[in-house]
Amino acid sequence: MSSGCPRAALHQSEPHPDPYSVYARMRADHGPVVPVELGSGVHGWLVTDYATLISWSRDTTTFSHDPRLWRDFTEGRVGPDSPLLPMLAPRTSALYVDGVEHQRYRRVITDSLGGVDTEHLRRITGRYADRLIDEFCARGRAELLDEYARMLPLLVMNDLFGFDEDQGMRFVTAMRNLWLGVDAERSNAEAERVLSEVVTARHRQPGDDLTTRMIRHRAALSDEEVIMQLLLVTAAANEPTANLIDAALRAVLTGPSGPGTAAPSDASLTELLDGVLWRDAPITNFPALYPRVDVPLDDGRVIEAGSPVLMAFAAANHFFARENAERMEETANRAHVAWGAGPHRCPAIDEASTVAIIAVRVLLTRLPGLRLAVPPEQLRWRLSGLSWVPVRLPVEFAPQAPLPHGPEEAAPLPADPPAGASEPRQQASGGLSSLSNFLVRLLRGS
Ligand code: HEM
Repeated sequence: MSSGCPRAALHQSEPHPDPYSVYARMRADHGPVVPVELGSGVHGWLVTDYATLISWSRDTTTFSHDPRLWRDFTEGRVGPDSPLLPMLAPRTSALYVDGVEHQRYRRVITDSLGGVDTEHLRRITGRYADRLIDEFCARGRAELLDEYARMLPLLVMNDLFGFDEDQGMRFVTAMRNLWLGVDAERSNAEAERVLSEVVTARHRQPGDDLTTRMIRHRAALSDEEVIMQLLLVTAAANEPTANLIDAALRAVLTGPSGPGTAAPSDASLTELLDGVLWRDAPITNFPALYPRVDVPLDDGRVIEAGSPVLMAFAAANHFFARENAERMEETANRAHVAWGAGPHRCPAIDEASTVAIIAVRVLLTRLPGLRLAVPPEQLRWRLSGLSWVPVRLPVEFAPQAPLPHGPEEAAPLPADPPAGASEPRQQASGGLSSLSNFLVRLLRGS
């Protein structure tokens, strides 16, 4: 190590007002490739440099996504109860494998997502957004992270997966407990159990949903492989999309002109998202690459083969944008790495952007006078599972009446089931009202 500084810790952080000042400190101490302690006694590296991050993500000869190369893990220096394992242990899903194996899983995911009708996605996102807002709009205040940003992607994904009401409730409870860190092992097992039940049910009764499309894909995945891809999509979709909605709302609420009075257009929100993805990317320190050989750095340090090298997408964007502020102002561009880089780049950019844009538009349209309930400098982030996540987003607004609920809410969403599908969307959309009611009760702790 070039400086005598101890490794930067990526764990045990108190809530912090500005993660970028933490990254700036690390870069000042170690340069843009930072030696880090991932967990107690577990070492790795963090890449905060834009060009290095892109080049290493694309260099599949030197770097692998496969944790079976993680030396500390394979040689038994990471205990079975390490909190790092849910993120970093080997798994048979796209994010954790390379080459032909990766292409097979990724094709199943992209083909299955490709079957999601955009209009259907827009419609259910708008409906679930309205339903969540109905629960707090008369109050004149809300905590938008837990009551809205985190709930909306979960409800949308439940619908796309084809869960019935009971499965949706159990899955949502397990996912919520997981991100609250409540009984992680049991919650993880429950989430997998629900997915396993859904896979069994879809074999019996196919539907117009992601699960059915994965089961029927010509790549012929085993049930266990299908469950693993569903788990990956769940993890990849929920928290990042929640963080994107949170970051976009923060950008509106703390921006120079505030939310304004007119309903924002999708075009203006797309532009807003581009800025947010540069300055405040939702995924901060993940995933990890593993060098197949020792990698020497310019300053003489060496990254040993098999060390986890975490991709700090948010920091790479943020510092590149700051160092190139003049050039960035001249043209709007999407050269940021918020969606990743190389063969594992996010395959769901359109879906995630659609959900985030509708989430922000519906909220700003429904809640006039929306403003932060605390000064922006009181907002906090904390490190959770290697990543910086927002803590709260409290807001105030002029109280509004909930929307009148028509009979259409309980009716199935109009959609054409695929040929041979005997069970359309009924089970998911019929549960819209009770599932969102359940979520709200869950949030209130009752
Ligand atoms: C509907 C929501 C989303 C879904 C279904 C989804 C799905 C996925 C999947 C399946 C992967 C693994 C791909 C592979 O290994 O080949 C992935 C990777 C990734 N996703 Fe997404 N994602 C969603 C939202 C987001 C959001 C909101 C962001 C942040 C802006 C994001 C950023 C990333 C990144 C950075 C990677 C890793 C890329 C890399 O390794 O270079 N995703 N996503």
